[in-house]
Amino acid sequence: MTKAARLLTLLRRTLLICVLFSYGLSNAMGKSPNQPAATPPAAAIASAHPAATKAGEQLLAAGGNAFDAAIAVAAALAVVEPYSSGLGGGGFWLLHLGTEERSIFVDARERAPLAARRDMYLDHDGELVPELALNGPLAAGIPGVPAALDHLAAHYARLPLSHSLAPAIALAREGFPIDAHYRRLARWRLEVLRASPAAAEQFLLAGEVPPEGHVLRQPELARTLERIAARGRDGFYSGELAEQLVAGVRAAGGIWTTEDLSDYRIIERAPIVFDFAGWTITSAPPPSAGGVGLAQMLGMLAELHLEDQDRVASVHRIVETMRRAYRDRAAFLGDPDQVEIPLARLMHPYYLAGLARDIHPTRATPSLPPSLPADLPSGLPSHVPASEGQDTTHFSILDDEGNRVAATLSINYPFGAGFVPPGTGVLLNDEMDDFAAQPGTANVYGLVGGEANAIAPGKRMLSSMSPTFAESDQGVAILGTPGGSRIITMVLNALLALSKGGTPADWVDAPRFHHQYLPDVIQHEPDAFTAEETAALAAMGHRLEPIDPKMFGNMQAVYWDRAGQRVLAASDPRGQGAASVVTSSLHLQMPDNSQQN
Ligand code: GLY
Repeated sequence: MTKAARLLTLLRRTLLICVLFSYGLSNAMGKSPNQPAATPPAAAIASAHPAATKAGEQLLAAGGNAFDAAIAVAAALAVVEPYSSGLGGGGFWLLHLGTEERSIFVDARERAPLAARRDMYLDHDGELVPELALNGPLAAGIPGVPAALDHLAAHYARLPLSHSLAPAIALAREGFPIDAHYRRLARWRLEVLRASPAAAEQFLLAGEVPPEGHVLRQPELARTLERIAARGRDGFYSGELAEQLVAGVRAAGGIWTTEDLSDYRIIERAPIVFDFAGWTITSAPPPSAGGVGLAQMLGMLAELHLEDQDRVASVHRIVETMRRAYRDRAAFLGDPDQVEIPLARLMHPYYLAGLARDIHPTRATPSLPPSLPADLPSGLPSHVPASEGQDTTHFSILDDEGNRVAATLSINYPFGAGFVPPGTGVLLNDEMDDFAAQPGTANVYGLVGGEANAIAPGKRMLSSMSPTFAESDQGVAILGTPGGSRIITMVLNALLALSKGGTPADWVDAPRFHHQYLPDVIQHEPDAFTAEETAALAAMGHRLEPIDPKMFGNMQAVYWDRAGQRVLAASDPRGQGAASVVTSSLHLQMPDNSQQN
């Protein structure tokens, strides 16, 4: 054999070895045609506003990962959905690092000011004054969103905040057109917004709700975002802006101090993880009630064999698990750094089996537990209007490296406390209402809390926000929703739908129903039950109340279908959000809010 022929043979063998090695590696990494891929074929974003979804897409296009996109989406939502979330609020971010196969829960929940007291919303007779926990600066907890943006940028994102905040800064400076949803919520909170001159200046036009199409510009918010882009958390929690925030709050009767702001810390916590019907569910730990509630309800349902039941029997059993989980929420849950929560017991299979056995197959259990006062209220305080259910926001993101973000962010009630400290552009939350301001008395969502959720200095208030992942060999779902106390049962409804198959569009569309122990009523979307089903549930002793679908949240879901090697996304048809699936060469966006690639 000549030297040239030997070289050719060597080259052929080397190529063959390379091909075989690469084939073997692909197999080892799960990339063969017969095995699920290790990374998704596309990225996807579902958020509650098209401008926010677009901001996330811009970051992905600029080489950012899911965490860069999450910063951009959250900041954009702070501008275009001022009634839902923002720099003056807090939230929870469930992250998954694709390369490490590790999930992390970032707790950016507001905390009570250090001067907060358990009776701060009671009058001289010890009676609750609910408006104090809802309107104006006394209602505001110390915000966590700016610290979360900085935390994500410092630890998980690829690009600096100057890149990821750029779309939001442009939206705040150049403005966005007001839509009917903004107008409806601004009308509802008009008097509260008018009471804060800086809020009226920012969100109203000559003291009135701006007309549809009016371009809302927020130059002071743009400047605050620029400070955060330049200085990270210090741009918000210290220096001139922090002093403006504290001065504005105190001048209007609030109790914040500069120490409250400089002391604020993000907390990374281990998520709640459990199995249901072949899926591993990862969700929010306390101070969210979401993960525990989902683990309890799905743990009880695993004992109740829904597959053998007709629709009425299934709904009855699901409702009874909701009732029991919300009872435990009221009795045991609060800030895990300040109260002892018997987490292991609450989620123990024997305990849940016991709760499930206690469910009568054909009779509703009245919500009259011996462990809480017998004179618990049966609903909302009469002077407080029910929340729309789309205040608070959620977005879901997947990138093509398998990184994921499920983030639920809030300023609580629509337009939060309705208060902006002058010169800051920051609309403050009224998350203090999520505490049990008077243990045993209902808050604005009708939720009754106990001692575990009583107000204390520096404490985080209990939340229902439930960003969630579901994962199996079949695929990975990323989901969550706003909706106050109904968030957890909405995620439950979605997980039950997911466990039966379908697509994100099916999960976000599915008719919803809810029970929260007190008031003792099944709230449901009008088309959730037929007349016959309603009559059959009533005959079991259930009270039913149809409510406006708009009160049933605004779910945003992304699904990486591993088996089908495609990515799908859907935005709740009850809202005006946008879902998009993005490949490096192709971007799909369809009018029906659902996407696939
Ligand atoms: N403010 C709504 C929640 O955190 O549950």
